[in-house]
Amino acid sequence: MKNIGNTIGLYPTPDTVVGTVIDGRVNWMNVAHVGMWGVRQMVISIGKPHYTNKGLLENRTMSVNMVDEGILVRADYVGITTGKETDKSKVFDCFCGELENAPMIKEAPLAMECTIDDVIEIPTHYNYIVSPVNTYVREDILSANGKIDYTKYHPVLFEMPMARYLRTGEAIGSCWKLGKEYLDK
Ligand SMILES: Cc1cc2nc3c(=O)[nH]c(=O)nc-3n(C[C@H](O)[C@H](O)[C@H](O)COP(=O)(O)O)c2cc1C
Repeated sequence: MKNIGNTIGLYPTPDTVVGTVIDGRVNWMNVAHVGMWGVRQMVISIGKPHYTNKGLLENRTMSVNMVDEGILVRADYVGITTGKETDKSKVFDCFCGELENAPMIKEAPLAMECTIDDVIEIPTHYNYIVSPVNTYVREDILSANGKIDYTKYHPVLFEMPMARYLRTGEAIGSCWKLGKEYLDK
C-alpha cells in the first residue's frame, strides 16, 4: 500500500442540485459534498462565495434534488455558472410543495423539500444540517410496497480525484445479512 498523503478517500458521493429562491428568483446549484447526519438529517456543504448561500441563510429552507442521467447535463451546467451573473431559473421546470422558497425539479427522480435546522460555519464553508419535510419520488422508481428501489433508479455519483461522474450499478448483497456468510464459515 502506498501512502498518498491526507487525501480524502470518501468519494464517490451522490450528486444533487440544491434549489433556492434569491430576491424572488429561483436559483439552482450543483452540490456533491453531501452526507447523512445521524439518521434523520443530511449535511449539505457549500463554499462561502456561492450565491446560493444568500437564499439559504435568509429563507432557512432548500430543496435537494437527486441527479440521474436524464438531468445530468443541466445539473453540471448549474455547477459551472453562478446566479450572481446568470439567470439559472429556467434550466429546470419546477414545482412547489409545502415549504416556501424550496422549489423542486419536476424531472428529478427524487426531490426533497427541506428545512435548515442548523448551520455549522467553518472558515471556508457553510455546512447546512437539513431535514426533509416531504420527499417526492417518480412513481416508476418505487417498489410494489412503496419503497425507493435503487435498482430502478441510478443516482449519479461524483468523484473529485478525476472530476468525473459515475453510474451506480447492481444490487450485490443484502445489508445486515451478507456478514452472516462470514459467521457461518
Ligand atoms: C459536480 C459538481 C459538484 C459540486 N459540488 C459542490 C459542493 O459540494 N459544494 C460547493 O460549494 N460547490 C460545489 N460545486 C460548485 C458549485 O455548484 C458552483 O460553484 C456553482 O456555480 C454555484 O452556483 P451559485 O453561485 O449560483 O450558487 C460543484 C460543482 C459541480 C460541477
